[in-house]
Amino acid sequence: MRVRRQGLQAGCVVLWVIGSVVVAGAKVTQSGKAVAAKSTRSAATSRSLVAATPPMGWNSWNFFAGKVTDKDIRDTADLLVSTGMRDAGYVYVNIDDTWEGKRDATGKIQSNEKFPDMKALANYVHSKGLKLGIYSSPGAKTCAGYEASLGHEGQDAATYAEWGIDYLKYDLCSYGGVMHQQAPNDVPAQNKMMRDAYELMHQAILKTGRPMVYSLCQYGDDSVWDWGPSVGANLWRTTGDISANFDRMSLIGRSQAGLEKFAAPGHWNDPDMLEVGNGRLNHDENVTHMTLWAMLAAPLIAGNNLTQMTPDVAAILMNKEVIAIDQDALGKQGSRIYAEGPVEIWAKPLKGGAKAVAIFNFGETASEMRGIRLHLKEMGLSGLVTARDVWAAKDLGKIGDTWRTTVPRHGVVLLVVR
Ligand code: GLA
Repeated sequence: MRVRRQGLQAGCVVLWVIGSVVVAGAKVTQSGKAVAAKSTRSAATSRSLVAATPPMGWNSWNFFAGKVTDKDIRDTADLLVSTGMRDAGYVYVNIDDTWEGKRDATGKIQSNEKFPDMKALANYVHSKGLKLGIYSSPGAKTCAGYEASLGHEGQDAATYAEWGIDYLKYDLCSYGGVMHQQAPNDVPAQNKMMRDAYELMHQAILKTGRPMVYSLCQYGDDSVWDWGPSVGANLWRTTGDISANFDRMSLIGRSQAGLEKFAAPGHWNDPDMLEVGNGRLNHDENVTHMTLWAMLAAPLIAGNNLTQMTPDVAAILMNKEVIAIDQDALGKQGSRIYAEGPVEIWAKPLKGGAKAVAIFNFGETASEMRGIRLHLKEMGLSGLVTARDVWAAKDLGKIGDTWRTTVPRHGVVLLVVR
């Protein structure tokens, strides 16, 4: 359900969304008197907004893919704590596809032999001060061909709640085929089926009474950012899958321009999970990836193998100032302010009036920004501003629009200006 306001007088109660449940405070009559709230209230009323800032955590897919096991999840939980990642904000430990077994005689989903006891695993993860996420599909099969939720939505949500699951990634996968089969060549009907399928699981989650982050994965089809909030999404994938190379990562990041108006506390654009520390991304490329995602107020779901994390990758993932930009309470996604060839300048408004300004160089050689201004005016700033170089952890004092620096190949300079 979209954020709606009822009664526009100052001080009236704003209807807002908790995992898309309308938390109706009270309806304000013309006389200004509050009357009883409409009963769309639920157990959610008393809990705080789910995903008030972009969710942070770790997911098994980008590194472990189909090989992930219970042990990998436990090792990751241990390492999230010992590396400091949990305390930096990475609290969700999300098991992606390939945990699923068969259903028992009552239709209850079982985990497979790689995950002998999901409830015990959840207890372990929770004992570390972390939360556990899981994965399914509205189709009969997941993308990797495992058992999924079609026809068992309520039962599966109840099972997840019983296990202690805190986050569900719900991936369209084979449901796309169902849509095509049942409504061939009828795009609006297919879209309605898709929304209904996501809403069905949303309602099933609400019925459990257990707060769960609800993550939609349907690759950004049908302008999901328009209707994601109406089916309870706390985040929705805006693209196809990321992979651990600069071209794919930067293409995805740059193509988020224009989606900023759809992100807000409680529901976020998701350009896919982080590949920082994976593949052959070098230092500057990892820094660019982390910066882009922070500027986009994107969920920060690490996807690397923590048992092999280098100090450089750890420092990039745990840079407190960069995380603070991503998690800023204002909840604004950054915009592209200016592009000139390979150089792009993005700005993200922060709470209290400061702005994060990222100067990206997607080109193949370093840029000295010759002839390229900061375009402060287009960000609503004028004259000299006080600046800090975030990755260099260095205050720059006052700078003006013609300030320039060297931006490495595939690199970025990130400032906070006020
Ligand atoms: C899809 C998703 C990926 C991952 C795999 C698992 O491709 O987009 O993020 O979840 O399925 O099979």
